[in-house]
Amino acid sequence: MLIPPTAFWNLMARNYSRQKVADEDAYRHKLEVTASHLSPGDRVLEFGCGTGTTALIHAPRVARIDAIDFSSKMIAIAREKAAAEGTTNVRFETAAFEDWPLPAGDDRYDAVLGMSILHLVADLDATLARVRQALKPGGRFFSSTVCLGDMSGGLLLALLGPLGAIGVLPKVTRLTADALVARMKAAGFTVEEVWRPKPDAAVFIIARAPATAKAETVPETESKAR
Ligand SMILES: C[S@@+](CC[C@H](N)C(=O)[O-])C[C@H]1O[C@@H](n2cnc3c(N)ncnc32)[C@H](O)[C@@H]1O
Repeated sequence: MLIPPTAFWNLMARNYSRQKVADEDAYRHKLEVTASHLSPGDRVLEFGCGTGTTALIHAPRVARIDAIDFSSKMIAIAREKAAAEGTTNVRFETAAFEDWPLPAGDDRYDAVLGMSILHLVADLDATLARVRQALKPGGRFFSSTVCLGDMSGGLLLALLGPLGAIGVLPKVTRLTADALVARMKAAGFTVEEVWRPKPDAAVFIIARAPATAKAETVPETESKAR
């Protein structure tokens, strides 16, 4: 690869932090729906947190957020923003989700957030298995995902594959929303909500981990992914 993904996101970080959210109404809606499921005692994990905007917005509603990103530049900006706001219950750390030590038992997370990230991970099934492992029984996974497989054609789409393959851009998995939902279900989640604000927009999904110990049995696809 010409540019490793961490170097790409490090290069992007300052500009990314200055970019306006593409669809402010859709972003607000996702924040509100997510917040409606959060409680003051909750422990939350956000992976691929970027410059920390989402974690910092949710911080006042929960006990603690671990917000991780493998780009140290993104995390540096997130820490600057937390310090400027005086937010102390978000722990921003430079880490790949694949390497993040997952808590066990009662220390598991009440909620996990993965915003604009699932289309970027190298192994989607392994990532979903890790998210499930990170969650308490009945915990929720909130995600927003670019689904290239549902998008209408165009030069950009045609270029994304080859540019990703040679490492100029991060590799983007060509997912459809239906396929993503199916893979979440195969990982043992119950999919509670699927929302796409408009055609070609990222798909917001709320998926819930099994609530009982019996239902927590690792499904076949998950054990294969490990
Ligand atoms: C498209 S940005 C999204 C940032 C933020 N979640 C948002 O919605 O604005 C993707 C982010 O995920 C990070 N990232 C990609 N793969 C990752 C991984 N495996 N572990 C941790 N961070 C990752 C990148 O560094 C980048 O900051």
